[in-house]
Amino acid sequence: MKKINNTDLGINNLNEEVTLYGFISKKRDLGGVIFFDLRDRSGLIQVVVRPDNKAYDLLSCLKNESVVKVEGKVVERESKNLSMLTGEIEIDLNNLTVLSEASDIPFEITDETNALEDTRLKYRYLDIRRNPIKDRLITRHKILISIRNYLNNLDFIEVETPILCKSTPEGARDYLVPSRISNGKFYALPQSPQIFKQLLMIGGMEKYYQIARCFRDEDLRADRQPEFTQVDMEMSYINEEDIQTVVEGMLKKVFKDIKNLDINTPFLRMTYSEAMEKYGSDKPDMRFEMPLVKVTDIFNNSSFKTFMESNYINLMVVKDKASTISRKKIDEYTLFVKTYKAKGLAYVKVENNKLTGGISKFISEEEENKLKELLNYEDNDIIFFIADDKKIAQTSLGALRLKIANDYNMIPTDSYKFLWVTDFPVFEWSEEENRYLACHHPFTACKDEDIDKLLTDKENCCAKAYDIVLNGYEVGGGSIRIHRKDQQKKMFEALGFTEDEAKEKFGFFLEAFNYGTPPHGGLALGLERLVMILTDTTNIRDVIAFPKTANANCLMSEAPNSVSTKQLDELGISIKK
Ligand code: AMO
Ligand code: AMP
Repeated sequence: MKKINNTDLGINNLNEEVTLYGFISKKRDLGGVIFFDLRDRSGLIQVVVRPDNKAYDLLSCLKNESVVKVEGKVVERESKNLSMLTGEIEIDLNNLTVLSEASDIPFEITDETNALEDTRLKYRYLDIRRNPIKDRLITRHKILISIRNYLNNLDFIEVETPILCKSTPEGARDYLVPSRISNGKFYALPQSPQIFKQLLMIGGMEKYYQIARCFRDEDLRADRQPEFTQVDMEMSYINEEDIQTVVEGMLKKVFKDIKNLDINTPFLRMTYSEAMEKYGSDKPDMRFEMPLVKVTDIFNNSSFKTFMESNYINLMVVKDKASTISRKKIDEYTLFVKTYKAKGLAYVKVENNKLTGGISKFISEEEENKLKELLNYEDNDIIFFIADDKKIAQTSLGALRLKIANDYNMIPTDSYKFLWVTDFPVFEWSEEENRYLACHHPFTACKDEDIDKLLTDKENCCAKAYDIVLNGYEVGGGSIRIHRKDQQKKMFEALGFTEDEAKEKFGFFLEAFNYGTPPHGGLALGLERLVMILTDTTNIRDVIAFPKTANANCLMSEAPNSVSTKQLDELGISIKK
């Protein structure tokens, strides 16, 4: 077994005879003496090969990334390289064994790379040799250790749940697996272990966790993969506050273990409607302010037709940027908010304590006075307005808030702002499906005072659901669950299932409620998003060993692929032409 890591060695090991293993990294022939860096998982060490060494000729034609065994003596380097962990020493080669010869590599193994991401994904095993990927995988491992230790200490039991499951409606699209034994039937891969973890509570496990692989066939984004990992938890006999406290403690420990940072708990809490009003998002980035302000009432009698006709007018003051944000940029922002369905974007600038430009000619003195009093704006501020339906005015200006902050570097780096968003609605209206869907999932309990409204006033039912947001990412979400059969049935009814449909899809689950159900709740953290934030990347693929592309392909193995007619026949499947 390989006994020594390169970076274990230092000036204290002078004159020791050592055996090292690794890849040949950088090779230089300096007039008769060959130097190369040997790279193992821990890092680099320089090896020096003198012309009288029998390996000299062999080495001069050996390509980078060949795998070798190096036997030699630790000696002090003449010219030290203190930027390298082992920069004070080198290995004076005695014997070299080539374990595997490499061909020309498709891209250099360097920290910075110009290689296209597609090439890196095709040769992912080479990409993993690069520090930026390797280090992130190691950090991911350390985060998991930290989390497991924390939960184990709190008496949680790790339980694995099935991967071949029953397809149930609601949520994202399922990945399906055809059954050979029951032709024409399908398993679904779990979108999360939600039902199983609730059944574990009914099974009396009290505190469960799992580092659970989840599968969702949905459109991918920079922070979404078709298969991803949740730190999934469920507890019996708890309330929302209890779960939040457990999660805060867990994140506090992770940040201490990984970053040596003390984060303050409890985290800030904000209701969903407050988050939407103030930041136009259910996952606001709290590293900077720039709140949205509702000014509908100020413009009741506006001479600007759009404002007069609108029932929701939102604005946002961007401090000290009037001279920086050009006309062209404003046009770009107008197009940007239109992608969020806003009808337009209006603006005014502040100059000599007066509103000028843009729609200022439509703002009366009285309106201006009210704005001044409300906003306390200063010279060189620019104010953006969106008048629209409430939801559009909020989300489009919320998205612009984030865009402007990014464009003008207004977001402090190295800052971590946690937020609990609470009191989510139970239902959300789906334009696509023309019906109400569960905002979280159909097992989420609604606030006690709203139970009677489930069937009659869906718009105003509030859930015992919460998300944890970190730097503008939804890193986790959970809820208190329904634990009574009558209420679960009512929820299915509210979601539009007939009794027969509910029985067919969820009968096994509803039946379990008959035999004693401890009140319970939980949460799942998106592991990748947490790792992304802790390793300073905005690309989820950077924290996954073998990720998929935006088309859900694996460029390395070329999954998904066609299968043989024999396989299809066994499954009773024919492919539509
Ligand atoms: P939810 O669907 O909110 O809740 O998922 C929990 C967290 O998982 C992460 N996540 C993802 N990460 C990467 N790629 C994806 N495609 C993806 N989808 C979700 C997010 C999210 O906050 N069973 C419930 C949890 C519960 O109620 O306990 C659930 O799955 O960070
Ligand atoms: P218009 O009267 O349509 O030419 O618009 C005048 C200005 O108001 C333009 O800058 C538009 O982008 C902007 N505008 C149009 N509709 C809205 C709206 N609903 N909210 C905010 N600004 C708007």
